[in-house]
Amino acid sequence: MTEPKKFTERYYQTSEKETLDKQIKEVQKSQYRPKYHIYPKVGLMNDPNGLAYYNGKYHFFFQWYPFDTLHGLKHWGHTSSTDLVNWSDQDFALIPDQEFEKNGCYSGNALEYDGKLYLFYTANYKVENGKLPKQGLAIMDKEGKITKRDKPILDHFPTGLSGELRDPFVFRRQDSFYMLLGGSKINHPEVKQKFGDEGVLLLYKSQDLINWEYQGEVDLPIDKGYMLECPSLITIEGKDVLFLSPMGIKPTEHNFKNRFATVYLVGHLEVENLKFLVDDWDELDSGFDFYAPQAFYGKNHTPLMTAWFGCGEPAYPVAEKWKHGLSYTQVLSLNKGQLKRYPAQNIVDVFDEQHHFETDELMTSSRNYRVNLTQNFNFKVGQKHDYWEFMYDKKAGLASLSRSGLQKTIDPSCGFLRFAEIKTLKEVDIFVDNSFVEVYLNKGERVFTFVTFQDEQDCLFSDGQPLIGSLFTEYNKN
Ligand code: FRU
Repeated sequence: MTEPKKFTERYYQTSEKETLDKQIKEVQKSQYRPKYHIYPKVGLMNDPNGLAYYNGKYHFFFQWYPFDTLHGLKHWGHTSSTDLVNWSDQDFALIPDQEFEKNGCYSGNALEYDGKLYLFYTANYKVENGKLPKQGLAIMDKEGKITKRDKPILDHFPTGLSGELRDPFVFRRQDSFYMLLGGSKINHPEVKQKFGDEGVLLLYKSQDLINWEYQGEVDLPIDKGYMLECPSLITIEGKDVLFLSPMGIKPTEHNFKNRFATVYLVGHLEVENLKFLVDDWDELDSGFDFYAPQAFYGKNHTPLMTAWFGCGEPAYPVAEKWKHGLSYTQVLSLNKGQLKRYPAQNIVDVFDEQHHFETDELMTSSRNYRVNLTQNFNFKVGQKHDYWEFMYDKKAGLASLSRSGLQKTIDPSCGFLRFAEIKTLKEVDIFVDNSFVEVYLNKGERVFTFVTFQDEQDCLFSDGQPLIGSLFTEYNKN
């Protein structure tokens, strides 16, 4: 007799619709839901996948386990938008119902080719002593119909690597297509472990997006941890910007304090020499809840990026039927060779009613707003008994963010304090969307992305020094 499937290994079938619909209704009553961030209508959402501007619309796919708020069998969810503000929920894009993807449709990206949107993903396939890496393909046409290929496009892998090889990122360069894959190298086979002991980035080449030829390992002169996830590449003003999500980067005094890190590298990817020539690299986000960013080109070829609003498996102090979501979509630019990112203009424009203030205590009118501060960068947000705190040490050129004043304690095992080095701080933009908070320093030179679960309307307050800036709220048409 075959064992019944464990709950976490179930994939969606129409017979589940009624049960899910009930839970979706319950989620709609949740007091912590954001208004403008993408979040799961039920269950757990993680990495953004296949981000694209295709056929006049933004299509965002994402990792989704609909049946519970844990990392169960992953599906691809799908939502679309014309403006990056109003999203319309679409049907499941990928359901792991084939044998070769029996342990989930994992992350990947999208590329438009021949009028269609090619969706690349990892077909997660567990065997007794690990995994056999397989990469899959599905194709979406202009009518939105998604057809999955019935077999993987890649199901072999170089020796010396662990079976954890995933997250295809496909891009075009000159007349060829390339695929980046993240993985883990085994330097010490005598040690039994799930992953290997060094992160690797592999490059494959193709002429038709179906047949792929292994090129080799890309040389990256950075700490790669023990496993690299979610590679993503974009060209901005002639420079290549590579995003990586390495597991196991060693924490430094001020950086890499989350369970897993995200880094960006600016420079040039030499596909022929398998080298990334690095001008600059750094941790990408200074907050607590940020991982697996994916870059893509938006309308008019604008370089954009969206990340998972989450990281690993944090302990949340609230029992909800939904967990995590995606960051705001941000426009990427380079400033003297350094990456900057700031929410897309349409998102900024949502909060268009401006109130100037000069006070040590500012009541916000809702839990959805933006504040632009231009003086005094030591403040708290929330209520006196329940707040998060931002501090700036001008002499040290160090900004810090603390969640230790929150009544609902989040993920204590990862600590309550994060830092961002910033020599001259001129302005701080705070975007609060209920439990989702993004804080941008100097319009995105540094960013803190994090969640808070606060129950009352926010107050912005300092310890006596006047705060100067503007509060932007949604223009109330009524
Ligand atoms: C990153 C990640 C990816 C994987 C996916 C599974 O968060 O672990 O490497 O494809 O999540 O959901």
